[in-house]
Amino acid sequence: MRLYKAELVSALAVLVAAVAAPLVDAVASQAYTWKNVKIGGGGGFVPGIVFNPKEQGVAYARTDIGGAYKLNPANDTWTPLLDFANDATWNYWGVAALATDPVQTNRLYLVGIPAAFDLLVVERELSLQATGGYTNSFELSLSPNNGNILISTDYGSTFTASPLPFKVGGNMPGRGIAWVTFDSTSGTAGSPTPRIFVGVANLGSTNIFVSTNAGSTWSAVPGQNTTYLPHKGVLSPTEKVLYVSYSNGAGPYDGTLGSVFKYNLTSSVWTDITPVSGSDLYFGFGGVAVDLKTPGTIMVAALNSWWPDGQIYRSTNGGATWSPLWSWLSYPTMNKFYTYSDSLAPWLGIDSVDGTPGDLQIGWMMEALVIDPFDSNHWLYGTGATIYGGHNLKLWDTTHNVSISSLADGIEETSVQALLSPPTGAPLISALGDIQGFVHNDLTKAGTLPDEIAPSVNWVNPTWSTTADLDYAGLNPLSIVRIGTGDSTQGKQVALSNDGGNTWSQDFGAADNVEGGKVALSGKFISSGDTVLWRTNGQGVMVSQFTNPFANVPSLPATAAIASDKLNNSVFYGANANSFYLSTDGGKTFTVKSSLGTSNAPVKIVVNPKVTGDVWVSTDTGLFHSTNSGTSFTAIPGISAAWAIALGAPKTATSYPAIFAAANIGGVGYFRSDDMGVNWIQINDVAHGFGSASSNCISGDPRIYGRVYIGTNGRGIFYGDASGAAPPPSSTASSTSTVSTTSKSTSTVSTTSKSTTTVSTTTTVKSTSTSSTTTSSAPSATQTAFGQCGGQGWTGPTACVAGYTCTFSNDFYSQCVPS
Ligand SMILES: *[C@@H]1O[C@H](CO)[C@@H](O)[C@H](O)[C@H]1NC(C)=O
Ligand SMILES: *[C@@H]1O[C@H](CO)[C@@H](O)[C@H](O)[C@H]1NC(C)=O
Ligand SMILES: *[C@@H]1O[C@H](CO)[C@@H](O)[C@H](O)[C@H]1NC(C)=O
Ligand SMILES: *[C@@H]1O[C@H](CO)[C@@H](O)[C@H](O)[C@H]1NC(C)=O
Ligand SMILES: *[C@@H]1O[C@H](CO)[C@@H](O)[C@H](O)[C@H]1NC(C)=O
Repeated sequence: MRLYKAELVSALAVLVAAVAAPLVDAVASQAYTWKNVKIGGGGGFVPGIVFNPKEQGVAYARTDIGGAYKLNPANDTWTPLLDFANDATWNYWGVAALATDPVQTNRLYLVGIPAAFDLLVVERELSLQATGGYTNSFELSLSPNNGNILISTDYGSTFTASPLPFKVGGNMPGRGIAWVTFDSTSGTAGSPTPRIFVGVANLGSTNIFVSTNAGSTWSAVPGQNTTYLPHKGVLSPTEKVLYVSYSNGAGPYDGTLGSVFKYNLTSSVWTDITPVSGSDLYFGFGGVAVDLKTPGTIMVAALNSWWPDGQIYRSTNGGATWSPLWSWLSYPTMNKFYTYSDSLAPWLGIDSVDGTPGDLQIGWMMEALVIDPFDSNHWLYGTGATIYGGHNLKLWDTTHNVSISSLADGIEETSVQALLSPPTGAPLISALGDIQGFVHNDLTKAGTLPDEIAPSVNWVNPTWSTTADLDYAGLNPLSIVRIGTGDSTQGKQVALSNDGGNTWSQDFGAADNVEGGKVALSGKFISSGDTVLWRTNGQGVMVSQFTNPFANVPSLPATAAIASDKLNNSVFYGANANSFYLSTDGGKTFTVKSSLGTSNAPVKIVVNPKVTGDVWVSTDTGLFHSTNSGTSFTAIPGISAAWAIALGAPKTATSYPAIFAAANIGGVGYFRSDDMGVNWIQINDVAHGFGSASSNCISGDPRIYGRVYIGTNGRGIFYGDASGAAPPPSSTASSTSTVSTTSKSTSTVSTTSKSTTTVSTTTTVKSTSTSSTTTSSAPSATQTAFGQCGGQGWTGPTACVAGYTCTFSNDFYSQCVPS
């Protein structure tokens, strides 16, 4: 297999173009402060952690879906490095490989999926350039495709995606490269490391190769045992030994047998140093760590020991003897040679509701295991859910009792399925992949029991690993429905809460083995239950009232977007292809009311919580608004596509709710409109790209003007608050349908995560709907178009501007609608 330079360079050219794609510069922007909603424990797989071997305190972690992070060694927190990844560069968040330069320690290299293979090329180029006593400590994982190399020269604060001047291409013994280890004890400064080992994913045949001429030619390492796959190969330079962990599965989930071998580089002798045998060996081996300050002290992790817990072994004599992290005291009691703390993420530990078999403390999918090269007491390891580690590792060898803590503070690595910010109760409820979701009573703290949505121990609280969607009842917002997916053992995957998500009961009207999709709860929801409309995953649309068995709704297509009216209990909405559907009989039947232009794929329907029939629909061709229950729609000009949309608190008590949208308005970004879609303000910046726009969900806070929640596919939940002045609206009224895209913006765009800002002047995209522009100043004698003009407790104007009539919506709200 040969990696061709031309192929790589052209891939990088495409990448650079994508990185350089400017932000929307035709829309005015407003500064926002963005923070993660704190879940605190990572929440996903951490396959790689690396310490720089030459500069103390420099360490990085990479995740499979949530980007890369830099360690703050003083306080055990992590700083995200790739939050700039946007709709064009979202794939950076799947970090396939990460390398910290041992010569120029400020340099960091990242390779996104699907590209890890290319890091070898980077490494070899660096070898050629190196002038000092060069050692190599690059990590490389499997992917043979063209890829995305990000290079930082400031420890990850900023990156550039530019191709290196490659002089050589890889010439490897086979695709399926599992690992590459450079023998830093070979060779001389200033020239490429001559001896390189690679492990490849061949089961039962030669799978470890060596080159002694910097990769020009390769041969099988003699004497190797090919029974299992070599999972990691880690060099102990002082010992001149290569330690190799093996598993009978490719990982990261599998592996039921494995071994550990050491290869003496001097004698070329392999020695089997597997820590356990016989019935104690029921897993493969993953992470391997060497203590660089104490040659011969090594550790190896079981890749997946699903029961009773994960396992880690430590040896101080090069693998001649080992001691475990736990043993059986007398079955079934475990002797734990550790104390455990998950205080930073209390949902992680033995109360975990992650849906994996058993409740593991130590962890699973343990690929990453490292000892700080400057501090033999400091160790970290990555699991399928978090990073654990501690600061007293040497106690393992004396009292044999170490402290293990969850140390993923700052890492937020969840795939957010849905967000709900109801008008009462907790400010935020999340539906998350793999770890269910939370009632976030406090955005700055990790979920704790009883905040956690579903304590795993209680059978009346159904537990599904992934929550697919949520909705609340408009007239009783503490009533919430959630649907689950992917856990057939838990049966019926609909649950209802009447206390804002703190306690739940399973909806026994749901059929077994029906799961996922989208859900909508009728406007009124009483304790005995009212109407749940459920667009299932692949089994059509179903509806149930009073938790009766769900019945099929054949009149609404199986892929439709759905929503409930927030006020009228009988009214539900649907959208599919370019058709908008209305049900006035509690979701039993739907009829096509109107068309959504040339849309092919509606994404989201949101309904004004104060006005029946006031509906917004986002589609692949734009954003549509109806004020008459979908009898007719206005396409909002200037928007060529919209994904997640949400309504939030209005700017003033009398104005229309703020509209938030992930949309293409002269470019893909995140926008807010305070005037019913006439003027749009971009609220994200170059440092906050939020990854793939079409994968994200949004919720507007109905209580705090300007606040919006963005759920990402891999980087957890962000919340944003306006921190700068809003730009003025483009005009007081507009009457043409021309979309202005003129702009005086100057955008300085780079892939920086911190230091670059977009400077733009305030030329707004002027769009027009059928109405004149709503103003949102203090109440005046007459209310503006679509403003509130009555309702319980209303003290504002009750008359409307010319052409509009104050119309009763409900006891709480009257609105100025076109006469
Ligand atoms: C941890 O240290 C970093 C780097 O010094 C700092 O930015 C951060 O605010 C600290 N976090 C806490 C929780 O103290
Ligand atoms: C190779 O490894 C397997 C699994 O550890 C072991 O059963 C076998 O005896 C080893 N073969 C040799 C020749 O050492
Ligand atoms: C490697 O083999 C050489 C030659 O037999 C021996 O001197 C050395 O001690 C071995 N190294 C280790 C770490 O066992
Ligand atoms: C380890 O230390 C903790 C805390 O002192 C203790 O509870 C536990 O029993 C110890 N474990 C062993 C195996 O001695
Ligand atoms: C709810 O909508 C239905 C169907 O349009 C209508 O018949 C009914 O009067 C509405 N109810 C209220 C309370 O407005």
